[in-house]
Amino acid sequence: MEKNELIALAWQAAEKAYAPYSNWQVGAAVLGENGTVYTGCNIENASYGLTNCAERTAIFKMVSDGCLKFTAIAVVSGETCNGYPCGACRQVMSEFAAGGSVPVYISGKDGSCLTAAMSDLLPYAFEKETLLK
Ligand code: THU
Repeated sequence: MEKNELIALAWQAAEKAYAPYSNWQVGAAVLGENGTVYTGCNIENASYGLTNCAERTAIFKMVSDGCLKFTAIAVVSGETCNGYPCGACRQVMSEFAAGGSVPVYISGKDGSCLTAAMSDLLPYAFEKETLLK
């Protein structure tokens, strides 16, 4: 699975975004360790705080399908590559990323792409190991 394929699938998912309040469409695609790509969009709610981000939609689809790790994720929105994942999504991504070096591709409609390692996006993540020690 190429970076550009993952980004293209994320854009397809963004078309399904339910974002009548912000009008900010986000798409995400995660490559599961099982080889399957799971996509997601942001899903807003009249009770704003119940909104689910695109990254978490995609990751929750992966986990609910029985796959617990992903090896790459693409997140797309806006015109340029500045639609960075929010803090809540970084924490959820960190739980299910196959390691700190997992690439996070952040891309915009102009085709620009920022690639960041998971551990650079969320250093000192709160981890499962801390609770299970
Ligand atoms: N959003 C995402 O889908 N992912 C993020 O990481 C940041 C924000 C969505 C939530 C909301 O529907 C819209 O973008 C504006 O905040």
